[in-house]
Amino acid sequence: MPWKKVCSLNDLEKDQIAEFDVQGVLVAVVRGENQPVVIPPMCPHLEEPLCEGVCDGRTLTCHKHLWQWDLETGNPMGLAQKPLKRYDSKVEGDTLFALIDQEILYDYE
Ligand code: FES
Repeated sequence: MPWKKVCSLNDLEKDQIAEFDVQGVLVAVVRGENQPVVIPPMCPHLEEPLCEGVCDGRTLTCHKHLWQWDLETGNPMGLAQKPLKRYDSKVEGDTLFALIDQEILYDYE
């Protein structure tokens, strides 16, 4: 499975959350304190866009019901009841790549 280019690091400010279309798969990228994280664009709670949320360096917060996740691990914090799924990613030079074999989707009940 080949690495796919997601974006240039120059496309993102610190603590910014942005969406990118990677060869037909929409992803969100969160640039916190460390390496950017590549995630599905919708909240695992009720399918709200996470790009409208807030990143404070180490934590991502969904704007809708304030579920939060640790960006390093994807583990839920506070009110959140599901982990944040992530695509494997790496940085080479100023380019962010991710392994996107198939779209990651959450189970919404
Ligand atoms: S939709 Fe994101 S916390 Fe509820």
